[in-house]
Amino acid sequence: MALLEQQINLVDPSQLLRPEEIYNGKPVNAFRDYSIDDDDPIKSRVQNTYKLMHTHQTVNFVNEKMQKWLKFDHAKSTIKEALLKLNDLIDESDPDTDLPNIVHAFQTAEKIRADHPNLDWFHLTGLIHDLGKLMAFYNEPQWCVVGDTFVVGCDWGPSIVYRETSFKDNPDGADNRYNTKYGMYKPHCGLDNVNLSWGHDEYLYRVLKHNGTKLPEAALCMIRYHSFYPWHAGGDYKHLTNKMDEEKMKWVLEFNKYDLYTKSEDIPNIETLWPYYESLIEKYMPGVLEW
Ligand SMILES: [Fe+2]
Ligand SMILES: [Fe+2]
Repeated sequence: MALLEQQINLVDPSQLLRPEEIYNGKPVNAFRDYSIDDDDPIKSRVQNTYKLMHTHQTVNFVNEKMQKWLKFDHAKSTIKEALLKLNDLIDESDPDTDLPNIVHAFQTAEKIRADHPNLDWFHLTGLIHDLGKLMAFYNEPQWCVVGDTFVVGCDWGPSIVYRETSFKDNPDGADNRYNTKYGMYKPHCGLDNVNLSWGHDEYLYRVLKHNGTKLPEAALCMIRYHSFYPWHAGGDYKHLTNKMDEEKMKWVLEFNKYDLYTKSEDIPNIETLWPYYESLIEKYMPGVLEW
């Protein structure tokens, strides 16, 4: 991590949250609007995805998904092929965009590149961070691919979206191994020792490790925890995290403003951008990967 501290000038996270600030023509507090409105088709879609997620993502479920996906025997493809496949995916948990995911990938990467021109690994991280969503093309429902993640195996964090209503039918809530503050964990055991709900963050992190990526540790943190909003935005789970996780959070927050606030109708010219990003793929994650 030390190397990375020298490379990035971190912004004050409070700067990210000023409600009057405008990103891409949209005030900050208009992003991540999870209010309930049954007449709004996007809001209903988002709420329904979370209801399914919060009902079915249990300790057992996550263990099963890890066994299934961490064999890396589903596909063989390059990073570019995987990105192109994302053209066909619209994230049903996202209230801020209904553009194909590859557009979001380039929007995120290009804004990072504008702000951090010398950190080529960071540009590539922006481009690939959602590639774990490929699971949706292999019969996984979106509620175990997309959306915010949370810790399984202990009390659900208070800041999780739809926290009060959405978990009512999750069997772990009635299981006294899991329904206490610490559940199956030790105090400050660290995020490395905690299981999150299954989704695209952990999957891509594991795919990259499995295939021997040369991306730095900060990139891997950003990828692994970018959807863990209850932790990095909500302040939950401090009783489980350790000093190392506080360092990780800096990188995740630096990444997240690009992930969130670049969602807009401005479509980048993807064809002209490919040669630059292909050179980064060649540098950090070349060849055919096992997925
Ligand atoms: Fe994501
Ligand atoms: Fe994203």
